[in-house]
Amino acid sequence: MHEEMSNMGELAGIHSIDHFGLVVPDLRVATEFFWAFGLDVVEIPGSNLELRAGGTQRCWARIFPGWSRTLAYIAFRCFPEDFERICAQIVRAGGTPATPFPEAPPDGYWFRDIVGNLVQLRQGPIDVPVKLNRGVVSTALQRDAVARNVLIRSEIREVQPLRLSHVMLFVPRMEAVMAFYVQGLGMRITDSADGLVGYMHAMHGSDHHIVAFAASSATGWHHSSWEVPDMDDVGSGATQMRAAGFRDGWGVGRHILGSNYFYYARDPWGSFCEYAAHIDYIPAGVDWKERTHGRDEILYIWGPDSPSDFTVNSEV
Ligand SMILES: [Fe+2]
Repeated sequence: MHEEMSNMGELAGIHSIDHFGLVVPDLRVATEFFWAFGLDVVEIPGSNLELRAGGTQRCWARIFPGWSRTLAYIAFRCFPEDFERICAQIVRAGGTPATPFPEAPPDGYWFRDIVGNLVQLRQGPIDVPVKLNRGVVSTALQRDAVARNVLIRSEIREVQPLRLSHVMLFVPRMEAVMAFYVQGLGMRITDSADGLVGYMHAMHGSDHHIVAFAASSATGWHHSSWEVPDMDDVGSGATQMRAAGFRDGWGVGRHILGSNYFYYARDPWGSFCEYAAHIDYIPAGVDWKERTHGRDEILYIWGPDSPSDFTVNSEV
């Protein structure tokens, strides 16, 4: 299934993000925001929220109450047969064993990365789409010559993301952090830009990035990104958020690194939730050549100007 496993000299690697945990000051406000975004928000007795997507029970995020908005932890998932090897890799790479985040599922291996982020390694199957080829045709390009091709507003259904695509974190010592995630979790660097941002994918096939890092003087939370089927959903999502009173954001536009169409809704705590469509995919076994870009060609190929504070770490 995954041929890397047969070679004991190779690193074992995680295959996906299981979920992330976020601390916010007000769960009531969080419920409003994430419902408006199109996620299922489920209250869990014991004072946290689960974010589900795509009409399934799958939990993609847990939201906890706290003093200020910050990452609680990030959970990655690996095949059970890789678990012990990855645990050993994490320790060798400089990870420090840690106690589980209170009220998070305590299974697996908990550790802190080299800049203090709390991370959980869990075991399980891949349950994100495995894309085998490039045969994806945008439905935006499918035109019927004799039909009206756009719905009227009253016919538009709520935009509901299908799943979590990736998260972006601010980190100090960004290059050392990326080296840790390569050596410890077997992740691979997809693209990076001038010491400012770095994008990482999983060796068993994943989106262009499942984790991205932005350079800062401290750790911090930047955004989570959620897959929607098409560019139309990105635009409708932006309209949906503005109609719900969450008027601030960035987009619609198209990224260069990852190629996805995007709209970032600014959340009530100054970070972002992204609608993403058609992000690049790197299948397992592909010899992807990491590319380093200049700082002028990292953010977007078209779209409105980015907000001046888009890459400011409010947790510094
Ligand atoms: Fe993103």
